[in-house]
Order: sequence, then structure tokens, then C-alpha cells
Amino acid sequence: MKKMKITGTGRYLPDRVVTNDYLAGLMDTSDEWIRQRTGIEERRWVPEEGNVGASDLGLEAAKIALNRAGWTPEDLDLIIFATLSPDINFPGSGCLLQSKLGLKSTPALDIRQQCTGFLYGMEIADAYIKSGYAGRILLVGSEVHSTGLDLTTRGRDVSVIFGDGAGAVCLEGVETDDNVGLLASSLHAQGDHADALILEAPASRLNPRLTKDMFDDARIWPKMDGRNVFKLAITRLPQVSHVVLERAGLKVEDLDMVIPHQANLRINQSFQKSLNLPDEKMYNNIQKYGNTTAGTIPIALDEVIEQKRIPEKNATLLFAGLGAGVTWGAMIYRFF
Ligand code: UT7
Repeated sequence: MKKMKITGTGRYLPDRVVTNDYLAGLMDTSDEWIRQRTGIEERRWVPEEGNVGASDLGLEAAKIALNRAGWTPEDLDLIIFATLSPDINFPGSGCLLQSKLGLKSTPALDIRQQCTGFLYGMEIADAYIKSGYAGRILLVGSEVHSTGLDLTTRGRDVSVIFGDGAGAVCLEGVETDDNVGLLASSLHAQGDHADALILEAPASRLNPRLTKDMFDDARIWPKMDGRNVFKLAITRLPQVSHVVLERAGLKVEDLDMVIPHQANLRINQSFQKSLNLPDEKMYNNIQKYGNTTAGTIPIALDEVIEQKRIPEKNATLLFAGLGAGVTWGAMIYRFF
């Protein structure tokens, strides 16, 4: 049976470092508050000039991943692009990335599962591979948040946590009887909580879709009920992780590394405690990048591999995340 092999990873973070002190110059916040409540020390933003979009960051991450896989863009059967901050409303960023890769007809699919975009993308890729519809897939998680944040005190709860960045993985169907690839996954959504983290306008349900009032009453900026999302995360991340461990027939001790979504260091510390996981098996990089939404897990995965934090063969990883939707989930991936 074909199993999904990660054959290459890549990441791209823009050079522009934005410190907490810089944000404190724009709104009523402080380095101390941001570090204590979120763990974030700095994040990256795209340059002010140049109209850099999610597909541009995705392209840089994809080029690295393709190179490591030893593939050319022409080898791809499918591109899956996860983002909540597409370059433009439509067409999707996957199409823009496809063109930037010099491709003329390769299918491209955008998915909008926010912080769990990478998890949903992995499960979709696995299904395409197992069904035989695709053999080589590029999955990208990429966000440009910085151009869409309310950088006044009104938006400070959201604006201090988000950063720009992209991660990419090359996924290949490989015939093997070994117990490798995507061993188990469990994905969920609950639209009842859609208002908990939302960017409302422009919107097709509003007529007209965009008015000056929407600027004035801040509906063009993301809004979050942070406490609600926080509580959902610290309860559901451990729950869903135990589900996938059981499905895979594994125990926490069998994991080589846990890579959670990076939304708040305190969420991940609580998650780590619930799993009773030692520090060396939990990966966090929110301190450097903030929350890059669909980008967090593939960026972290690329760092974990680069830093040789996991065994070269058969490393077993758990990925987990919760975010807007709300959507949440976890999966266990074992390297070949
Ligand atoms: O990846 C997407 C999913 N998102 C998440 O998982 C985010 C989950 N939530 C969180 O990470 C946290 O709720 C936040 C970091 C957003 C907020 O931290 P908190 O500890 O939950 O703070 P809070 O919302 O309870 O606010 C505490 C106080 C409030 O002031 P008062 O009412 O006590 O006077 C806020 O107005 O902190 C204030 N506050 C800030 N102060 C300085 C909120 N944001 C800021 C800020 N700087 N940036």
C-alpha cells in the first residue's frame, strides 16, 4: 500500500524583525505584557514596499522543499495551499504559486482551515496518495498577517500575536508495508464558535460588501475572544492527541517530538503538562515568529529536521492545533 513520505521541507520568514518594543510604540502594550501572556519576543513582517503576498512567501519555502526532495515543479501532481490571508480574494494563492513555479496546468487547491490548515492539508494529501489520484504533492502553509492588523490599542490583543511566514513540505506516495507515514489523524470543526476569531469584512453576506462604516467600526480587522479560544485549546489539544495516540496504538513515550501550533506559549506549556511530556520532546518557536497560522507547524518541522532534534529514521511526531473556525485536530506522522 502507498504511504505518504515527507521527502523535503522548507521555510521562509521575511527578514524584517518586528520587536515587542516596536509595537509598544504603535499601541498601548509592552514587551513585558506580550512576553508574559504569549511568550512572543519578536515576529517577522513582510517589507512595507513590494506588495509581498502569501504566495511569495510560499514560493520561497516551496523552492527549498522541492530542492531538498530533488524534485522540479514539473514533478508535482498537485499543490495544496493553506492560508487565511490569500494574496487576493480570488483566485486562490495556490493558483498564483503554481504560476510562480512556472507551471501551466498542475492542479492547485486552496484550503481555509486557518491554524489547522497544515493538518487538514496533510490528511487531504494522504487521501489523494492512498487513492492513487496523486503521487507527488506540494503542501504549503503561508500567511501575511501584518498588512491586515489593527495596529491601534483597539486591536492589541490580536495584533501582537500574529506574524508572517511560510512552510512547505513535499509529499510522495511510496509503496511499503512498513508502519510509516500518516499513522493516525483526527480533525474537527465547530462553526458555533465562528465568532471567536473572525475577520468579517469584506463579506458576500454584506450588501455592499465593503463600506466606509466597516473601516470606522473595525470590521475590516480580525477580532478574537482570546479567553474562549485559549480555554478551547487547552482542553481540546490534549483530548484529540490522546485519540490519535490510541488510534496509532502508541503511548506518549513513543513520540520523538510534539510540534503544536504556535498560538501562545502558555497554551503549549499547558498542553505539554497534560501530556506529561519532557521539555526536549516539545518544540516551540513562537518566541521568534509569533503566530504564523497555517505556517506554524511546517516552519517548526523544518527547524526540527535542520536542528537534528529527531532520529534520522522512523522518527514519530505528533502535530496538533486549534484555531479559527473553530477547527482543531491532531495527527501522528512517522518518518520512513
Ligand atoms: O491561532 C489562533 C488561535 N488563537 C489563540 O489560540 C489565542 C488564544 N488566546 C490568547 O492567546 C490570549 O487570550 C491572549 C494573548 C490573546 C490574551 O491574553 P489573556 O491573558 O487571555 O488576556 P485577556 O484577554 O484576559 O486580557 C487581560 C488584560 C485586559 O485588560 P483588563 O480588562 O484586565 O484591563 C486586556 O485589555 O490585558 C489587556 N490586553 C493587553 N494589554 C497589553 C489585551 N491585549 C493586550 C496587549 N497589551 N497586547
